[in-house]
Amino acid sequence: MVFGDGASTAAIMLVGEQPGDREDLEGEPFVGPAGRVLDDALDAAGVDRDQTYLTNAVKHFRFDQRGPRRIHKKPGVAHIEACHPWLEAELEAVRPRVVVALGASAGRALLGRPVRVTAERGRLIDGADDAPPLVLTAHPSALLRLRSTGGFEEAFELLVADLGLAAAQV
Ligand code: URA
Repeated sequence: MVFGDGASTAAIMLVGEQPGDREDLEGEPFVGPAGRVLDDALDAAGVDRDQTYLTNAVKHFRFDQRGPRRIHKKPGVAHIEACHPWLEAELEAVRPRVVVALGASAGRALLGRPVRVTAERGRLIDGADDAPPLVLTAHPSALLRLRSTGGFEEAFELLVADLGLAAAQV
């Protein structure tokens, strides 16, 4: 299990999908390659990572073993639902002013419905029930894939803009 990490009084909570290989080994969220993209985007948006609370919708690394490699496997809705009480408890304990959902799995976990990042990013979304407002944005891992196919710079700018929108709420 990889639980959340960060300031218990954080005004911004960032929620990812699930820990990756590195996070599973170190027991901390966003300490691998996706975490480095997130760190760069937070820096560019003027957000101090130490002042945020970082967690994941699903608390364990789901993977397929291929030889020596552990290949990320997307969590199912059942995994998101099974971990939901922990996410609720984190929201209740930290009480952030705004939540950033990194990717569609996090968006689904927080809003309780399927979401499409391209259709809903770039604006504040009402939180479910009495949850704080939410900014839906791309998952940093999706940007990593664009490094080889092209489009990384544009996607990075959009991520920075979404993080800036969240920072403007606090
Ligand atoms: N991807 C996530 O969604 N969360 C992490 O902690 C690391 C990679």
